[in-house]
Amino acid sequence: MKFPELKIGRLIPRYPIIQGGMSLRVSTAPLAAAVANAGGIGLIGASAMSIGELRNEIRSARSNTRGIIGINVMFAVRQFAAMVHTAIEEKIDLIVTGAGFSRDIFHWGRESDVPIVSIVSSPKLAKIAEKLGAAAIVAEGTEAGGHLGTMRSIDEILPEIVAAVKIPVIAAGGIVDGKGIAKAIRMGASGVQMATRFVLSTECAVADAFKQMYLKATADDIVLITSPVGMPGRALHNAFADKIIKKIAPKPESCDGCLKDCSREYCIFQALENARIGRVDDGVVFTGQNVHKIKDILPVQKIFDNLVKELKQEPDIDER
Ligand SMILES: Cc1cc2nc3c(=O)[nH]c(=O)nc-3n(C[C@H](O)[C@H](O)[C@H](O)COP(=O)(O)O)c2cc1C
Repeated sequence: MKFPELKIGRLIPRYPIIQGGMSLRVSTAPLAAAVANAGGIGLIGASAMSIGELRNEIRSARSNTRGIIGINVMFAVRQFAAMVHTAIEEKIDLIVTGAGFSRDIFHWGRESDVPIVSIVSSPKLAKIAEKLGAAAIVAEGTEAGGHLGTMRSIDEILPEIVAAVKIPVIAAGGIVDGKGIAKAIRMGASGVQMATRFVLSTECAVADAFKQMYLKATADDIVLITSPVGMPGRALHNAFADKIIKKIAPKPESCDGCLKDCSREYCIFQALENARIGRVDDGVVFTGQNVHKIKDILPVQKIFDNLVKELKQEPDIDER
């Protein structure tokens, strides 16, 4: 079996690997550009950025790569439309969107010839996205980090979603090595989206304390929290996660209504920002379920070299 060719609209990366968009400011320009330079697709996590910041991030990524750069934006954010239009104005290569559904984005994508990729967790939503005009689907299983659309494993939903649509399906959730990529390819995926592996890269912008929590994590350190967005989230166990679970997390001191719908039980963006800057005990540290399998912080190019080497070691997989 050859590495699949991942075709999203007119885009074909050298390797069928997308670095998942990570908010808040976890996947910024340096990480996205490094992934694009290594032959994958790099995504800037746009949710919670200001419009000016997003513009600067896209420009900064562009000035460091000729590879494929996209943004990830959650439908749940109030500035969704403005972010999509800004990314299109900045000539972004693709837009990946999840945490809710918007008809409009497919229309904007068609008008500007920018492929739209929908993150879904069920065949039903995959079919709707295809009908509306998605160029590809990210099928995200419960093993993923961050907000979750399902409690079902990627192994269960991937074959169902592959069977439901004709557009390329990209598998996400718990994939951290070449073996995981090979398994997804065998199940019919045209590519993979990986996020947790790329947090443990030298180019990822989070504080060292965040990365050290990842490195020390065991399989038992993962918790599910409820997010004020109204979805569960997969994160590392810490004092703040305990407070969320006990429903004693601090209420937001101020609120600018950044989410369309928010319970305001606590501020998820403040909690993610605290973690990013290294105040990990006061924040939410999102992570995928297989974080404990990653043992090192490496430059993105080295991560790609290892993934490709591991993939080639699989008896039934050859490079294109
Ligand atoms: C720290 C972190 C932040 C994330 N933020 C977002 C986000 O803002 N939007 C989104 O659609 N997915 C987000 N995700 C999900 C990833 O893009 C990806 O689909 C998922 O984590 C894949 O599973 P893996 O981390 O096990 O590789 C986040 C994941 C992590 C680990």
